[in-house]
Amino acid sequence: MRALFDKKVLFFGGKGGVGKTTSASAMAVAASRAGRRVLLVSTDPAHSTSDIFERPIGPQAVPLLPNLHGLEIDGAFESQRYVSEVKERIKGIFGHGILKEANRQIDLAVSMPGAEEMALFDRIGGLVRGEDQRFDLIIFDTAPTGHTLRLIRMPELMEAWIRALSRSRQAMLGVEQDDKTDPVMMALTDRLEHLREFRARLLSPRISAFVLVLVAERLPIEETARAIEQLDDAGVRIGGLVVNRVLPATSPDPFLQSRHRQELVYLDEIDRRFASHSRVRVPQLPSDAHGVATLERLADMLLAERTLA
Ligand SMILES: Nc1ncnc2c1ncn2[C@@H]1O[C@H](COP(=O)(O)OP(=O)(O)OP(=O)(O)O)[C@@H](O)[C@H]1O
Ligand SMILES: [Mg+2]
Repeated sequence: MRALFDKKVLFFGGKGGVGKTTSASAMAVAASRAGRRVLLVSTDPAHSTSDIFERPIGPQAVPLLPNLHGLEIDGAFESQRYVSEVKERIKGIFGHGILKEANRQIDLAVSMPGAEEMALFDRIGGLVRGEDQRFDLIIFDTAPTGHTLRLIRMPELMEAWIRALSRSRQAMLGVEQDDKTDPVMMALTDRLEHLREFRARLLSPRISAFVLVLVAERLPIEETARAIEQLDDAGVRIGGLVVNRVLPATSPDPFLQSRHRQELVYLDEIDRRFASHSRVRVPQLPSDAHGVATLERLADMLLAERTLA
């Protein structure tokens, strides 16, 4: 996992409840202790990073530890912020009459399904592009896998969409190329540029990596296999696997012994099926992972590299 400190963007993904938030937070603590200026970003509406750090974190980055800030992105907040920005921007472009109608249209657009996801995507894009220069490493604690994989494909889809918009704007203006005096055209060109950069950084193995968190059970293993396939397809580098909540091998308790025997089968399967990816095992702690002291312990475990690959 230490090799991942040199990236700029890390995503932690996996099935619900396997320990994404815990692992992402522990990694953030580990990297910040190693001197990287880290921003831990939660994109999950449930926002459990404030729980785990035992303090409120909001839609603006707040300091958590030396070298570590936290941020919880919120779709509703971002779409409101986006709307105010757009309204501000078009003030200078349109006359009073049109402006009123335009503002009405904008308010309508924000209430459409998908608007908050768009705004969320926009904010993530900005962070991936490195617009906040205070940080060397951005760590995303994501919502369960499907949602995040969709998000990763969004720049590509959006690019196609904006290209189509640009073409119809060109047709409307009766021009062949971008008209640099047309504010709408320029706004579209700008967006396209941002999207290209977002995608380029996402797909650069030097810059971004995706860490998959799982536990040694059947469904999480299958979900991990699917996610690996989809990430490979999309061209996103897989940074490694965190196998979380591994039970202690030596327990006098017959129940735990039996669970452990079952788990060994799955641990074997994980090692076999994901042999080409680096893997780190994190033990099951005696109680929930809460607070900085526990995160520091987990950080040490992530770096211990009891990896077989
Ligand atoms: N190694 C561990 N030992 C003990 N408890 C753990 C460990 N890892 C995670 N937990 C606990 O398991 C629960 C789920 O962990 P976490 O919130 O990190 O999962 P998640 O994948 O982010 O869940 P969600 O899909 O809901 O976002 C939490 O209560 C957490 O404290
Ligand atoms: Mg979580």
